[in-house]
Amino acid sequence: MREVAVGDKLDQYEVRELLARSGMASIFKAFDTASGEMVALKVPYLQFESDVVFFERFQREEEIGQRLEHPNVIKFLKPRHKSRMYAAMELVEGKSLRSVLQQERVLPPQRALAIAQQVCEALVHMHERGVVHRDLKPENLLFTPAGQVKIVDFGIALDKSARRLTWLGLSRTLGTPDYIAPEQIGGRRGDARTDVYALGTILYEMLAGNLPFSGPNALAIMRAKTDGEPRPLPYFLPEVDPHLEALVLKAIERSPRDRQQTAAELLQDLKNPAAVPPRDPLTFAAGHRRRNGIPRRLGAPVLLLASLAGLSALVWLSARQPAPQVQLAVPRER
Ligand SMILES: Nc1ncnc2c1ncn2[C@@H]1O[C@H](COP(=O)(O)OP(=O)(O)O)[C@@H](O)[C@H]1O
Ligand SMILES: [Mg+2]
Repeated sequence: MREVAVGDKLDQYEVRELLARSGMASIFKAFDTASGEMVALKVPYLQFESDVVFFERFQREEEIGQRLEHPNVIKFLKPRHKSRMYAAMELVEGKSLRSVLQQERVLPPQRALAIAQQVCEALVHMHERGVVHRDLKPENLLFTPAGQVKIVDFGIALDKSARRLTWLGLSRTLGTPDYIAPEQIGGRRGDARTDVYALGTILYEMLAGNLPFSGPNALAIMRAKTDGEPRPLPYFLPEVDPHLEALVLKAIERSPRDRQQTAAELLQDLKNPAAVPPRDPLTFAAGHRRRNGIPRRLGAPVLLLASLAGLSALVWLSARQPAPQVQLAVPRER
């Protein structure tokens, strides 16, 4: 067996053109002799043919793809017979969001919102079917010539029946720190809110032409995500609508609890940003500074109790005469 190349006949397909090469597969444009239509074939490199773990994951990607049915999700086809490992999909002849951003750098807010809405519609559908994508990024969002968004690449998607993340999924996750959520960095599997985070990051990038977290290398970016604060959106887009800013910042909150809880909730915000209350800058900074300490919702009561306890200790100590040599523990916010 050898690598598939342009000009080959692969089962019912005639391989016509190389569209992309990624870390693990070549994507070809091919002619489907059964339907008479052009399709896309994702063919893993030969080195993976005998890799059982890869095979399992690839099969799952295809199964997940075949289970989904939405205008904004790439459609997986069912070849009659497969003589080797590959997946057939509907062909998208347009560009990816990555190449659009490379050309245009920033998109007007209305356009960015319209794109995010389409992605979010797809997320609602996927989440309803128990699938979390976990690898949303501009490379995996394609535009048809008519401008319709199609999500591709379910390579590390998670469905309800999935077992633990394999080394393969993990290494891929670690390959792209820009869009992954803080909980993924922590090794958690992620849920619907992980996709909310990635879409929030993509929306930020479409508006700002920059990412909310940056750093000289992958480690620094991950650290900024787990410990730092996002770069203020008005820094790149001074005239940003405060409601829209609040919407984006909510989606990229460090703790999944603080984000829009479902794709449906995010979609509602995307359709009506004016309904998202603008943010009190201090509240957001506090949320982002929080590490593994007291959750923000509990922060105020806990602080109050601690202060009260400290105060009573002071009263009690000053009532005791003569004052012994004690060191007062000043309650501190953790
Ligand atoms: N159905 C398709 N039609 C056109 N191009 C596609 C299609 N699927 C993937 N591609 C192109 O190939 C690239 C890699 O595909 P993807 O499924 O994301 O592979 P990987 O899992 O290796 O990242 C995409 O970023 C896109 O540019
Ligand atoms: Mg990809």
